[in-house]
Amino acid sequence: MSNKTIIIGGGIIGLSLGWQLARKGEEVEIYESGRAGTGASYAAAGMLAPQAEMGFEDIELFYLCRKSLEMYSRFSEELFADSGILVEAERTGCILPAFDRDDNERLRRLYDFREKIGMPVVWLSGTEAREVEPFLSPRCTGAIWINDDAQINNRKLLEALKIAFQKCGGKLFENHKVEEIIFADGKTSGVIVNDKEVYCTNVVVAGGSWSKQIGGLPENLLPQVRPVKGQIINLKLNDSCRVTKVVRAPDVYLLPKSDGRLILGASVEEMGFDVDPTAGEIFRLLERGWEAVPSIYDLPIESIDVGLRPGSRDHMPIIGDSDVEGLFFATGHYRNGILLTPITAYELSGWIQTGNSSEALKGFGISRFYEETA
Ligand code: FAD
Ligand code: GLY
Repeated sequence: MSNKTIIIGGGIIGLSLGWQLARKGEEVEIYESGRAGTGASYAAAGMLAPQAEMGFEDIELFYLCRKSLEMYSRFSEELFADSGILVEAERTGCILPAFDRDDNERLRRLYDFREKIGMPVVWLSGTEAREVEPFLSPRCTGAIWINDDAQINNRKLLEALKIAFQKCGGKLFENHKVEEIIFADGKTSGVIVNDKEVYCTNVVVAGGSWSKQIGGLPENLLPQVRPVKGQIINLKLNDSCRVTKVVRAPDVYLLPKSDGRLILGASVEEMGFDVDPTAGEIFRLLERGWEAVPSIYDLPIESIDVGLRPGSRDHMPIIGDSDVEGLFFATGHYRNGILLTPITAYELSGWIQTGNSSEALKGFGISRFYEETA
């Protein structure tokens, strides 16, 4: 049998990996239980923000994210060539404002840390901050300005990936839930979908928040991923409020999109698989957003989206092989799945095709959890 890869899950991770494998000439099928590209990847804000998202403790993840951001221009060019749709990272820049002494001290520590490890970062006074983003509240007392964080239209990206994957010869099966992964002679041999066995050489678990529910995996290989609920509000920008920079205020971000939306996000909730928008979180996002940029008050509300971020135990992604031949994981991308898409797709497709592990993904595999109990 020639090599064939089955990917479980048609979110941004499954689609981009499938596309890269297909464009390398590999036989690949994606099974998606609903419609591809409607999970967390659709609800996401689309920030490509290795700098603004990271705290002190996440340095390995920061470097992975930064490498992935650098890959986005190649990724966009190849995607345009294969889909005819141009989706580019926009270097909007990001401002992190402080509104009181507490915020100020916290940002100062972040600023010092970033400067120490050589990241480009600028400290602004309140007045300077409002010159950069005039719609910021006059209460702003200081800010960090990060010039090279970016954002992308993740919804357009999903459309382009679906087209590119299929144009390159990949097969996408929507409304096909994988019930179980099957094994033979200690190797991965296929999956069960709609009560039928489908054979292959490699299986990639890319089921986002649902990855742990896929049947057939031995206990020690169950990816320890849980859903972390995120609610966002899509406002419609108009002349009363034309924010142009990403604003990451305490407990809320405001993200102007090129399609005219201003995204206010996001809640981070441990609510299992609940996807109902709630009054309390929407109220809190609006209140915190209004404190940062008061002129959002008059903006029309377009819609509310809810998504489930796949969060692992250490909040790092789980990408790479396992101790069962032919079984791979690409899940647990938590708050950075859109940002980590290029590095996941390039590095893991190369790994699957050549059998040579990826240096860039070292330390992010499932083996780091082998010793833990479920
Ligand atoms: P998903 O998009 O959820 O896709 C997984 C798919 O697998 C689903 O379609 C599901 O139906 C399918 N599936 C599951 N089980 C099976 C099965 N058994 N058989 C077949 N199919 C199956 N990241 C960023 O980088 N920047 C951001 O600004 C950002 N903002 C976010 C804001 C919010 C509100 C949320 C919720 C997330 C945000 N993220 C952001 C995180 C990002 O969205 C996720 O990390 C990323 O989308 C995960 O992609 P995925 O393909 O693994 O998951
Ligand atoms: N990365 C933004 C979020 O997860 O809300």
